Amino acid sequence: MTALSVSTSSAASLRADALVIGVAKGPKGLVVTSGAEAVVEAFGGTLAEVLTTLGATGAEGEAVKLPAAAGLKAPLVLAVGLGEAVEGGYSAEALRKAAGVAARTLAGSKKVALALPAASAEEIEAVALGALLGSYAFGLYKGENGKTPVGELVLLTDRKGSKEAKAAVERATAIGEEMNRARDLINTAPNDLNPKSFASLAQTVGKEHGLKVEVLDEKALTKGGFGGILGVGVGSANPPRLVKVVYTHPKARASLAFVGKGITYDSGGISLKPAGHNETMKCDMSGAAAVFAAVVAAKRLGLQVNVTGWLALAENMPSGSATRPGDVLRMYGGKTVEVLNTDAEGRLVLADAIVKAGEDKPDVIVDVATLTGAMVLALGTRTFGVMANNDELRTKLHETAGAVGEQSWPMPLPADLRKGMVESTVADLANMGERMGGGLVAGLFLKEFVAEGIDWAHLDIAGPAFNEGGPHGYTPKGGTASAVRTLVRFAEDTAAGV
Ligand code: BES
Ligand code: MN
Ligand code: ZN
Repeated sequence: MTALSVSTSSAASLRADALVIGVAKGPKGLVVTSGAEAVVEAFGGTLAEVLTTLGATGAEGEAVKLPAAAGLKAPLVLAVGLGEAVEGGYSAEALRKAAGVAARTLAGSKKVALALPAASAEEIEAVALGALLGSYAFGLYKGENGKTPVGELVLLTDRKGSKEAKAAVERATAIGEEMNRARDLINTAPNDLNPKSFASLAQTVGKEHGLKVEVLDEKALTKGGFGGILGVGVGSANPPRLVKVVYTHPKARASLAFVGKGITYDSGGISLKPAGHNETMKCDMSGAAAVFAAVVAAKRLGLQVNVTGWLALAENMPSGSATRPGDVLRMYGGKTVEVLNTDAEGRLVLADAIVKAGEDKPDVIVDVATLTGAMVLALGTRTFGVMANNDELRTKLHETAGAVGEQSWPMPLPADLRKGMVESTVADLANMGERMGGGLVAGLFLKEFVAEGIDWAHLDIAGPAFNEGGPHGYTPKGGTASAVRTLVRFAEDTAAGV
């Protein structure tokens, strides 16, 4: 794992393999941003000109390398783009992206110094988080051909001593490391990560951090009547689990429940997915990974709020013992569901977990799930959908996501779409309704399982959870850890009473 430290050394005197500076598009051409003064000086004032000649424009995502000038201890300078030049500070997202691009571009370097804008605590946190996230590399299966991440990152700032600067780095480290852990879980092959191994990892890591972790295995699930989770897992040789991860703060005034869809592999079951649709379905536990990461981060940050994470873990496979389209499941809490399509499995495991989570009477339940292809069609691959049984909460989560640099969009739960879903001829509900608006139908299904009086929101992260395209900013290929930052910020705001 990449180490990150803070130093008040000058950019000129620090020994490193590369020195990262920021550049932006000014009204009269390229500008070098604050933090890089010593580098500008070392080039005798020609730095912007040289970079322009090399093709630098300051655009977001851009990275231009040049040999360092005499007087700099690092042999290489990397200029990363921050977009349009602004006075009064760059946005946290622009800084995170630039730091992420730098860390990705310099993968393989032992030591990298970051001379990006880092005067305020907010800027320090953004640069630190972007750099840690951009350093991510999944090396489990790669052996010597694997890409080695940057070994050590040194963030240069003149604010080192201040309490806020220290806190900013600690926050970035907790969130960045837990997001990278979530990415590892998502990227791990489904023959290595199944409900049982995921649950035992949650136990080990939870214990390490002083969290209470309870695991319901298939016996306990049967005894408890968790028909949804069991119905999805029954076709697999790897039986399902329901994991409860508890973080409490003695002075908490509010309680949150986060519920994650944890399908460690989604083949579709008997309603098998066609080839081309299941190669990436190890990512179908991204919601559970995000929830777990958020609870551990809440603990590491010592947030003054109670947070319980629920990981609904199952593998959706076809077999002689698998649930058939036409079967009726008796869900936890007693509702019956006719399974019309075994590929609509996420809502079945989530329904059980949402009912169970509701028994503790949390103030808010937020579920996170790679739930529907329909949401990907609606919003694309970088934006998650937000639904809720309360408009204020839906707005709150959408705004929270925006504040931490995650793209989301509020979606409705139109009553008319409920009709098809409740029209099962044999059971209380069917697990499928109208095809049109499929993401909203799934949301309406979940809403049926939320206890009276509890505010509930649903984040459908099917688009952004897994990046099938090239890496960009601080986002790698593969698992992204979508929704972690939104959950953590939501818990922070709840703790602060906002
Ligand atoms: N895990 C999938 C949804 C998904 C699609 C996640 C693409 C990530 C990327 C989910 O279990 C699923 O198969 N949903 C079906 C529901 C349908 C059968 C009602 C879908 O969206 O097609
Ligand atoms: Mn499915
Ligand atoms: Zn699924």
